[in-house]
Amino acid sequence: MARFGILTSGGDCPGLNAVIRGTVLQGEMVHGQEFVGYRGGYRGLVYGDVMPLERSVVRGISQQGGTILGTSRFGPYTEPDGTPQNILARMAGLDVDGVIAIGGDGTMAAANRLLEDGVPIVGVPKTIDNDLEATDYTFGFNTAVEIATEAVDRLRTTGNSHQRCMVLEVMGRHAGWIAMYAGIAGGAHAILIPEQPESLEQICTWVASVRDRGRAPMVVVAEGFTFPDMDQAHSHKGLDGFNRPRLGGIGEILAPLIEERTGVETRATVLGHIQRGGVPSAWDRVLGSRFGQAVSDLVADGDWGKMVALRGRDIVRVPFSDAVGHTKTVPLDQYRGARATFG
Ligand code: F6P
Repeated sequence: MARFGILTSGGDCPGLNAVIRGTVLQGEMVHGQEFVGYRGGYRGLVYGDVMPLERSVVRGISQQGGTILGTSRFGPYTEPDGTPQNILARMAGLDVDGVIAIGGDGTMAAANRLLEDGVPIVGVPKTIDNDLEATDYTFGFNTAVEIATEAVDRLRTTGNSHQRCMVLEVMGRHAGWIAMYAGIAGGAHAILIPEQPESLEQICTWVASVRDRGRAPMVVVAEGFTFPDMDQAHSHKGLDGFNRPRLGGIGEILAPLIEERTGVETRATVLGHIQRGGVPSAWDRVLGSRFGQAVSDLVADGDWGKMVALRGRDIVRVPFSDAVGHTKTVPLDQYRGARATFG
């Protein structure tokens, strides 16, 4: 009987457990497959750290946030034991015929390298940032937008009561999808995204015009936003396990600058990991379940080196090369359309 190992890698994301459940149910019931779960992302693959993954284990997990397998930002080649030979030997020792890697751009880049080194592997795209080019949407994004929109709504209460400018910082490393959607949904007066630098002068013009109309300005800023004179996004927390700068903090920089320039009392809130936590939305559970079922079909066909993806209403298969290194950013005309109503 064919046996596959599932791992979740990179940041946790609402809907991961729905993917795991969808894969196991489809695999057991339709294809007669067996599964094990690798604990802690690629670390589990390298060290052969597995847990049983049967139908009874995945019962009722779709509505749980996070991942029952655990995750890490750990590239498979960063440890001395992380060689293709060792990984293939560990897989053989566990009777694992192939790997299902659920993750974002860093995870897919590592999966692509493993594939080139002879490891049978497929992928499922995941990120709340929704920035993977090969798929129209990733699960987790919808939940994050709901949470961020609720935060905008709640911050407006304080803004209106105190006549303050409220700045909400949301996640979004390379792409401002969460900021755009939550900002539009919450009626923000300015939305600042990584794709489009804006000057402090412009931001303060928007804030002042809102104040002059007797309203409390609401600004949503993505963590990856830069002013025109910055060559990279603000980071003061070192590098993550995929060697990328840990972002966060631009909202705290922006708020006092707005206050100083406009005289409007300004407060910043960094939403942080609250966006990734808690119960996944129904939409994310459905997308995760569909991805899970589709990836079970993928490994049944031995179609290695592919990732499942959403195109329109359909789940399709795309090569890793389409997914790796291609960021799906907010189209500038879409941003400009929203920008015309700022202030
Ligand atoms: O990659 C998704 C993401 O949500 C980014 O927007 C953010 O920079 C990063 O995760 C933060 O992750 P960590 O949990 O490692 O701080």
